[in-house]
Amino acid sequence: MIKVSRKGIIIAGGTGTRLHPSTIATSKQLMPIYDKPMIFYPLSVLMEAGIREIMIITTPHEQISFKRLLGDGSKWGLNFTYGIQNTPRGIAEALIIAEDFLNGDHCVLILGDNFFYGETFSSGLETAMSLEEGATIFGYRVNNPSRYGVVDFDKSGQALSIEEKPLIPKSNYAVTGLYFYDENASKYAHMITPSERQELEISSLNQIYLSKGLLTVNILQSGITWLDTGTHKSLFEAAQFVNVLQSRQGIRICCPEVIAYRNNWITKSDLMAQAKELEKSGYGNYLMKVCHTT
Ligand code: DAU
Repeated sequence: MIKVSRKGIIIAGGTGTRLHPSTIATSKQLMPIYDKPMIFYPLSVLMEAGIREIMIITTPHEQISFKRLLGDGSKWGLNFTYGIQNTPRGIAEALIIAEDFLNGDHCVLILGDNFFYGETFSSGLETAMSLEEGATIFGYRVNNPSRYGVVDFDKSGQALSIEEKPLIPKSNYAVTGLYFYDENASKYAHMITPSERQELEISSLNQIYLSKGLLTVNILQSGITWLDTGTHKSLFEAAQFVNVLQSRQGIRICCPEVIAYRNNWITKSDLMAQAKELEKSGYGNYLMKVCHTT
């Protein structure tokens, strides 16, 4: 399958008010999901898709902490650019903030608090990566769709509408926080007007693609896990999920160091050096184990 070259954007701003007081002194996306910072999970999705040039959008005051954790990306064979969102004016604003960074390229936008995991997920990523025109979003069946963007379909499976947090949802399919766009995303983002809650809604951008007949909706199968981590309960559930999976299988998921190594973006000695730096933690021990077994 042909891969269209794309840049990545992680939007990791917002106020995190639903997690107060835990997020008063730190960013939500830096809080741990079990054994690693939340942002490692969406970052891993971009890395699995083969994306190496990534803009990380944060609030002005938290940028320094993200830089301390992630640096310029070179330790993982990546290239990070940092963007700032001064106030949380909506997810679609990411495409405006990243306009110069994208410089007319295709992109993948992912929310800094979204978690995806599953064996078959990478084939969905590959298909979305190969689409030259339009946008691809991912639908996921949930029992509480009103909390999300909701997509509904006609009998042939064609998407009919996208609505942000509808009181009466037309389907049970939530739109997940992973979006593939062609080179027009920033241009269309400028055309959006703020919603009642004064945000540039990502659902409005997806609706523009839909109205042009350029929106592909890929339904994630039930074997794929999608979690968002916006509340203490969902954060705790995500941590439990990671713990169960990792302890049962004796692996660790979504480690950028390991993905970089498997993608041949860093060498075994690079991985070993990073494992040594973290050797007092179980995470570091796992990296060392990967060095010794592959
Ligand atoms: O998780 C998927 C859902 O994410 C989608 O189904 C919705 O269509 C989409 O609007 C979004 O809904 P949420 O209510 O979960 O969005 P929230 O305001 O919680 O923001 C999601 C993440 O994006 C969060 O980590 C903070 C970040 N964010 C959000 C806004 C509004 C920013 O960095 N800047 C912003 O302006």
